Amino acid sequence: MKNKFKIKGPIFIGRSYQEYLKFFHLEHGCLENNRVLDCAAGASSFTAHMNRKGYDVIAVDILYHQDPGFLQRRCEEHLNALVEALSQMEGHFVWSFFQDMNQLREHRMKVCRDFSQDYRAGRGERYIKADLTSLPFKDNTFDLVLCSHLLFIYDHRLSYEFHLNSIKEMLRVASKELRIYPLVKSKGEKSPFVEKIMEELQETVKIEILKVDYEFRKGGDEMMKMKLIES
Ligand SMILES: C[S@@+](CC[C@H](N)C(=O)[O-])C[C@H]1O[C@@H](n2cnc3c(N)ncnc32)[C@H](O)[C@@H]1O
Repeated sequence: MKNKFKIKGPIFIGRSYQEYLKFFHLEHGCLENNRVLDCAAGASSFTAHMNRKGYDVIAVDILYHQDPGFLQRRCEEHLNALVEALSQMEGHFVWSFFQDMNQLREHRMKVCRDFSQDYRAGRGERYIKADLTSLPFKDNTFDLVLCSHLLFIYDHRLSYEFHLNSIKEMLRVASKELRIYPLVKSKGEKSPFVEKIMEELQETVKIEILKVDYEFRKGGDEMMKMKLIES
């Protein structure tokens, strides 16, 4: 069956705060009294939820100059297209966090609505338009920087230079740590950029690959934790 939805440009959807807590192995200790930046946050509900709970979280995305109605429509359209595409390859995924495709769709539609509501209220304050390779923040502005579902999974569309420059830029604004998830692509194979980045940055950055309690893409149960080595 042919996918009747065509996605143009970057996919604009969002994972939930519950998923983020698992992707990045976040516990209260990592978040309490820490400033957090979610990079390429899309329509994730992480920023909305964490701010409601009193945490200091800012989200950036290249599409945050767009108005709320446009982003909500784009998110719903992209989510429908994604669910249709994933339905044709269900066997590539691990059905544990989600029981089936319907549950995934409902969960992510709710995320999209939560994001839209908070984006209307916090646009320009906690939702800031920015390109990952040029973040509008001073060095060490944040304690923890997170990046979910942009690097490594799109290594067929985003160059190695984009990966390297984005990682260097996120490390510049992170005083403690940068965490990236996932490290695998859609069919579960690890991106070759993971090794290449580790080799290239080994002198200046402490890099760990850690197991996490989440796996949807097969093999997608690892995140990368990075910290600049002080000279
Ligand atoms: C697949 S979504 C991931 C959203 C969210 N992090 C998550 O895990 O659900 C990828 C996001 O990256 C954003 N994006 C793409 N290129 C970017 C860039 N150069 N700088 C900042 N954001 C970018 C897109 O607009 C999109 O919202």
